[in-house]
Amino acid sequence: MYSFNEILEIVNENIGEIKFDHKPESLYEPISYILSLGGKRVRPALVLMAYNLYAGNLEKAIPTALGIETFHNFTLLHDDLMDNADIRRGKPTVHIKWDDNTAVLSGDAMLIEAYKLIGKTDAKYFSRIFDLFSDTTTEIVCGQQFDMEFEKRMDVTVDEYIEMIRLKTAVLLACALKCGAIIADASEQDADNLYEFGINIGLGFQLKDDLLDVYGDSKTFGKRIGGDILCDKKTYLLISALRDNSAKEELAAWIGKEEFDEEEKIKAVTAIYDKLGLKQQSEQLIKEYYLKAVACLDKVEVDKQVKAELYKLAEDLTLRTT
Ligand code: IPE
Ligand code: IPE
Ligand code: MG
Ligand code: MG
Ligand code: MG
Repeated sequence: MYSFNEILEIVNENIGEIKFDHKPESLYEPISYILSLGGKRVRPALVLMAYNLYAGNLEKAIPTALGIETFHNFTLLHDDLMDNADIRRGKPTVHIKWDDNTAVLSGDAMLIEAYKLIGKTDAKYFSRIFDLFSDTTTEIVCGQQFDMEFEKRMDVTVDEYIEMIRLKTAVLLACALKCGAIIADASEQDADNLYEFGINIGLGFQLKDDLLDVYGDSKTFGKRIGGDILCDKKTYLLISALRDNSAKEELAAWIGKEEFDEEEKIKAVTAIYDKLGLKQQSEQLIKEYYLKAVACLDKVEVDKQVKAELYKLAEDLTLRTT
């Protein structure tokens, strides 16, 4: 059994070996840039950890793990452009360091590189992995479109929000786990339980990301605090605040406004969340998804101590503070 840190080391070594030295440099340099900035590498780690529940030779699952991480990084190039985000992983985003068109085209190139890596999956498993991966990437694009549409809507429900984050975020974590299980010849039932485990940690993970976007520390979070508030993202916090009549009235002064002082808006909206106790309410919901995730992992028919690193990771990702 590999520890999470050993898995991370293997992931990082392999990512370091991917070279994007084609021409034009202006297209491929941003790809190397975003991949070199690190990040938590959660998704490739999940592929290898799920695989490692059943088999030891991680090599077999590496191309799929790399394909999924490359795909994730591609989504970030486009996401930062869509979300108007200047900082990621503590460094300027690609559309800021280069320009908008570069973020679009380097993102496109990166998506193709991701598919090429998935194409290196062992032939025995390729068809299942390709179908699962493609269904997942389609869902993510849909989730991202819902996320953008919701910015302009005032009547988004909590259920709609949960479905949106399931699509934009949770399915990729779930897909990563299931890919690892498939390549390790796990039973269909285990693969499905690992998928559901991934969905629940994914929902908790995105709820936590939204919470940290308001209450995190920009140094460790690596992103601008208040970014979601600035673009009226319909997060669990904002949706919940809008259900309170007096908060709704106060929020109306900020939402949809074109001209405003950014820091003033962040401060005012955060104060509304504080007053309503939404941080605690959100933490409670995250805890519920964490517990659902644990229940799914319990069902995976592997010795409890073999699953220990996954239990721990579920806790770290949902109850995380960075
Ligand atoms: C960022 O994902 C996008 C979300 C789904 C919240 P991560 O928080 O996994 O980003 P990195 O890869 O660690 O930077
Ligand atoms: C991102 O959600 C989901 C995807 C990139 C698919 P966010 O927009 O919340 O991610 P961050 O906060 O920019 O990392
Ligand atoms: Mg974003
Ligand atoms: Mg986004
Ligand atoms: Mg976010």
